[in-house]
Amino acid sequence: SNLSFVDLFFSSTTVPKMLANHILRSQTISFPRCLPQMYFLSEFANMDNFLLAVMAYDCFVAVCYPLHYTTKTIPQLCALLVIGSWVIAILNALLHALLIAQLSFCADNIIPLFFCVVTPLLGVSCSDTHLNEMMIFTEGSLIMITPFVCILVSYICITSVVLRVPFTKGTGKDFSTCGSHLAVVSLFYGTIIVVYFNPSSSHSAEKDIAAAVMYTVVTPM
Ligand SMILES: *[C@@H]1O[C@H](CO)[C@@H](O)[C@H](O)[C@H]1NC(C)=O
Repeated sequence: SNLSFVDLFFSSTTVPKMLANHILRSQTISFPRCLPQMYFLSEFANMDNFLLAVMAYDCFVAVCYPLHYTTKTIPQLCALLVIGSWVIAILNALLHALLIAQLSFCADNIIPLFFCVVTPLLGVSCSDTHLNEMMIFTEGSLIMITPFVCILVSYICITSVVLRVPFTKGTGKDFSTCGSHLAVVSLFYGTIIVVYFNPSSSHSAEKDIAAAVMYTVVTPM
């Protein structure tokens, strides 16, 4: 339910502005609007990220330790994982928003993007963006890669169990439940890697927009 909630707001941070720009044939966003959009995008993207990792753990326990499922997924643990995810996502988004707020943008406070993701935003700033880039590549990557590694490890265990035990109705059902999770995970990480881990100089606006639409519209849907 938390993932549905996050995904609803994730799309709502971008789609209305995108439609408005399409109707007005505009390609810009003003700085006072850009910062909150960036903050919420970053918060909900990381929240998606963490919740997908928590759900991978759930799949992992269901497939690999089916008899211990009720003892390993107690409500207190679930609540702790969800609350912890919210706290980290909010702090991380605040950090990057505050760092961006220090920069100056020369073109009359109008940003020639309709979509405020961090890296393209650094490309249009006229101040020194070293600190921002360093934070994205260290703290930002850590926050994105840790859940990804957890998901990867979970799926390696799940696959080894599914290949080892004789195929029964039960394992087939578990694997199909995890299949939709796996599809979302692939879409989500595939597009995030394209957007965030490209050097900003080789960014083409169309590519960014296509990837951003993928992970704020297609994946949540
Ligand atoms: C999110 O998860 C927490 C902990 O499990 C739960 O108490 C809360 O109701 C959920 N919130 C939403 C909006 O789904």
